[in-house]
Amino acid sequence: MDHGTTTLSLVLVAAAAAAAAALSSSSSSPTGHGVSLLQGGRANNGTAGTISCWPHERDALLEFKRGITSDPAEILTSWQPGEHQDCCRWRGIRCSIKNSHVISVHLRNVGANDAINWDAGDTALVGQISPSLLSLQHLKHLDLSLNQLEGPTSLFPEFLCSLNSLRYLNLSSIPFNGRLPPQLGNLTKLRHLDLSERFFLGNGMNSLYSTDISWLTHLPSLQYLDMGSLNLSMALDWAYAVSKMSSLRVLDLSSCMLASANQSLPHLNLTRVERLDLSENDFQHPIASCWFWNLTGLRYLGLGGTRLYGQFHHGAFGGMTSLEVLDLSVSDGSNDPYITDGGLDIMTANLTNLCNLKILVFSSSNFGGTVTELFNQLPQCSPNKLQELHLDNNNFAGPIPNWIGRWDSLQILDLSNNIITGPLPSEIGMLNSLVTLDLSSNLIIGPVPSEISMLDNLTAL
Ligand SMILES: *[C@@H]1O[C@H](CO)[C@@H](O)[C@H](O)[C@H]1NC(C)=O
Ligand SMILES: *[C@@H]1O[C@H](CO)[C@@H](O)[C@H](O)[C@H]1NC(C)=O
Ligand SMILES: *[C@@H]1O[C@H](CO)[C@@H](O)[C@H](O)[C@H]1NC(C)=O
Ligand SMILES: *[C@@H]1O[C@H](CO)[C@@H](O)[C@H](O)[C@H]1NC(C)=O
Ligand SMILES: *[C@@H]1O[C@H](CO)[C@@H](O)[C@H](O)[C@H]1NC(C)=O
Ligand SMILES: *[C@@H]1O[C@H](CO)[C@@H](O)[C@H](O)[C@H]1NC(C)=O
Ligand SMILES: *[C@@H]1O[C@H](CO)[C@@H](O)[C@H](O)[C@H]1NC(C)=O
Ligand SMILES: *[C@@H]1O[C@H](CO)[C@@H](O)[C@H](O)[C@H]1NC(C)=O
Ligand SMILES: *[C@@H]1O[C@H](CO)[C@@H](O)[C@H](O)[C@H]1NC(C)=O
Repeated sequence: MDHGTTTLSLVLVAAAAAAAAALSSSSSSPTGHGVSLLQGGRANNGTAGTISCWPHERDALLEFKRGITSDPAEILTSWQPGEHQDCCRWRGIRCSIKNSHVISVHLRNVGANDAINWDAGDTALVGQISPSLLSLQHLKHLDLSLNQLEGPTSLFPEFLCSLNSLRYLNLSSIPFNGRLPPQLGNLTKLRHLDLSERFFLGNGMNSLYSTDISWLTHLPSLQYLDMGSLNLSMALDWAYAVSKMSSLRVLDLSSCMLASANQSLPHLNLTRVERLDLSENDFQHPIASCWFWNLTGLRYLGLGGTRLYGQFHHGAFGGMTSLEVLDLSVSDGSNDPYITDGGLDIMTANLTNLCNLKILVFSSSNFGGTVTELFNQLPQCSPNKLQELHLDNNNFAGPIPNWIGRWDSLQILDLSNNIITGPLPSEIGMLNSLVTLDLSSNLIIGPVPSEISMLDNLTAL
C-alpha cells in the first residue's frame, strides 16, 4: 500500500532550447561540428542551421539507440544520424544551458501505469544499455525505468557506476539479475537512487541481490533511496549503513527479505528521514526491539506484513508527532492471521498524541480487544486530521462508542469483518466527511440511524 505523502522535488534542468543563447565563451562550445553557436547567438529550433549538440555525445546516443531492439511506442524516432541533427532536441534529452552537454536522459516507460498487472510490453523499450553512455560525462539525470533493458546477460550495468556526475538514477523495474555492484558508491553526487524491482517485466525473473550495502555510506547527498523488492537477505549490515545517512528523507526497503530490524546502533544520523517503508520483510521479532523508534521526524511508517510481535514499549509513538500514515496491516489482504508469540499487542500502541495522523491501517491482523479500548488509543486531538481508519478483518468486539463523532475528518471507516455488536450510535451522522463506511460482516443489530442519511458524500455503505 502506497500512500505517498512525501514529494521531493527534482532539480531539473532547463530546456535545451535556450542553450545556445546563454553561451558566452567559445571554450565551452562544442567543436568540430560546423556551425558555431556563437555566431548565430540563437537557440537552434531544429530546422535552422545552428546545432547545440556535441558530436561525440550525439554518436553516443545513437550507439545507445543501436542497442534497442524494440521501440513500440516510437520513443526514439527523433533520434536520427546526421551532422545537422541536434541531439539536444531529441525526445528524452536535455542539455545544459551553459555548455550544451547532455545532462539528462529521461526514457521512463510512461505507457506503464501503476497497476501491478499491466502489460508493459506495449510501450517498453527492449534491448540493452550501451556503455556508450559513458561518453556523457556531464550526465546528471538518467531514468530508464520500467523498460526491458536488461540485455542478454541481465547483469546490472556496472559501467554506469562511472557516470559520476549523476544526481538522479532511476533503473526501477528493469529486470536485472545478479549482484548489485558496490561501485555504486562511486556516484557520490547522487540525490535520488531508485533500483526497486517492484513491477515484474518480461519473464518476471528479476532477482537483484546485494550482500553488503555499506557503499551507501559513500553517498552523502542521497535523499531518496528505493531498493524495494531487491534481495538483501544477506545484507546483515543494512541498518548500520542506513543509520549513517544524514541526508536521507525517503527510505524504501519493502519486500527486501531483510532478516531483522532489531540491530542496536551506535549512532543514528538518519535524522531527516520522513518516509520509512520496511513492509513485507518477515522480521518475526518483538516490535519493541526495532531500531527505528528514535526517528521522530517520520511522516510515513510502513510495517505491514512484517510479523513483528509483542507490546509497543512505553512511549513508542510519544515523539513521532509528525506521523501521518501508519501501516501495520498483514500482507496483501490475504487475511492470513499470524499469531507468532501472541501476535502484536495493538492495544499498547498509544497513538493519542499523533495529531497529524491521517491514515491508520490495522487490517487483516487478527487484532483483538474492544472497539472502545482501541478508540481510546487513537489520536484525541482537537482538531484532528484522521481521514482513513482501516480496521477490517480483525477481532475487534463490542459496540461502536458514541464518541466516534470526534473524528469528524474521517473519510473512510472500514470496520468490516470484525465481531462488533450493535446498535450503531447516531453520532455516526456527525462524520460529515465520510465517503466510505464499511461495517459488513459484524454482529451489528438494530436500525440504521436516520442520521446517516445526512451524510451527503457517503457513496459506499
Ligand atoms: C525555426 O527556424 C525556421 C527556419 O529558420 C524559421 O522559419 C522558424 O520561424 C523558426 N521557428 C522558431 C519557433 O523559432
Ligand atoms: C570507483 O572508484 C574507485 C576509486 O574511488 C576506482 O578505483 C574505480 O575504478 C571506480 N569504479 C568504477 C566502476 O568507476
Ligand atoms: C522511478 O521511476 C518509477 C517508475 O517510472 C517511479 O514510480 C518512481 O517514482 C521513480 N523514482 C524516483 C526517485 O523518482
Ligand atoms: C537471495 O540472495 C542470496 C544471496 O545473497 C541467495 O543465497 C538466496 O538464494 C536469494 N534468495 C532468493 C529468494 O532469491
Ligand atoms: C533479532 O531478531 C532475530 C529474529 O529475526 C533473532 O534471531 C535475534 O536473536 C534478534 N537479535 C537481537 C539482538 O534481539
Ligand atoms: C534512542 O533514544 C534513546 C532515548 O532517547 C537513547 O537512549 C538511545 O541512545 C537512542 N539511540 C540511538 C541509536 O540514537
Ligand atoms: C553521525 O553523527 C555523529 C554524532 O552523532 C557524528 O560524529 C558523525 O560525524 C556523523 N556521521 C555522519 C556520516 O554524518
Ligand atoms: C499515552 O500518551 C500520552 C502522551 O504521550 C500520555 O499522556 C498518556 O498517559 C498515555 N496513555 C497511556 C495509557 O499510557
Ligand atoms: C462533499 O464533497 C464536496 C465535493 O468534494 C465538498 O465540497 C463538500 O464540502 C462535501 N460535503 C461535506 C459535508 O463534507
